[in-house]
Amino acid sequence: MKAVILAGGSGTRLHPLTLVTNKHLLPVFNKPVIYYAIEKLVDAGITKIMIVTSPHHIDSFVRLLGSGQHFVPKSTHAKQIQIVYGIQNEPNGIAYGLFIAEDYVGKDNCVLFLGDNIFLDDITPAIKSFKKGSTVFLKKVPDPKHFGIAEVNNKGSILSLEEKPLKPKSNLAVTGLYVYDNTVFEKIRKIPPSARGEYEITSVNSLYLEEGTLRAHMLKKEWFDIGNIDALHKASLFMKKRLSHEK
Ligand code: G1P
Repeated sequence: MKAVILAGGSGTRLHPLTLVTNKHLLPVFNKPVIYYAIEKLVDAGITKIMIVTSPHHIDSFVRLLGSGQHFVPKSTHAKQIQIVYGIQNEPNGIAYGLFIAEDYVGKDNCVLFLGDNIFLDDITPAIKSFKKGSTVFLKKVPDPKHFGIAEVNNKGSILSLEEKPLKPKSNLAVTGLYVYDNTVFEKIRKIPPSARGEYEITSVNSLYLEEGTLRAHMLKKEWFDIGNIDALHKASLFMKKRLSHEK
């Protein structure tokens, strides 16, 4: 299993913090935002990661992360994980960002991780048990209009998906973590851009839903989407508290 972390975007809701730097490089307490994604993947046994970002910030990511020398894989004898880079030239959607990684992923399955998401749950079991189709990770939110939303029946199966609905059918957000089999790339080719001109990941997930191969995994612990200053601040405070408890 390979992983693709998306770390582009202009971060307008974080201005002026993101006028010069990329939001994934901002600190959440003692580490850059993107470290949380990398560490979560490494903890789940993933050692090969492509980071997809814009041409404006790729040099900063290379300086920060290099080839992955700061991260030691779990339970292998390798000295470090392998990080490589992809460039998304336009902010034309999450699905397009994953498409950039097609050759890198090759015939493998892949995890897509939105680099501004921070998860506290252990994702290892969901990744290790994955065989085919797609797994998405759901979390109850107070403001469902801002997310991809899943309607789920009492058995936990997904009935419908909508991207940022005006009238949400549930309060279950589809978070920025997805596991896909290799058919994801042919699905990305099939989807048209949305009204806002982006290749939406929700459109890709809807094709898995139509096919009957989309599974939902409920998250139990905290989840942060570092989209604005409140979320950045809340996540920092949470990590500070968490670290002081560990001491
Ligand atoms: C994206 C996805 C959305 C998902 C969210 C999670 O939205 O389009 O479905 O719920 O990430 O962070 P964005 O935050 O890019 O607007």
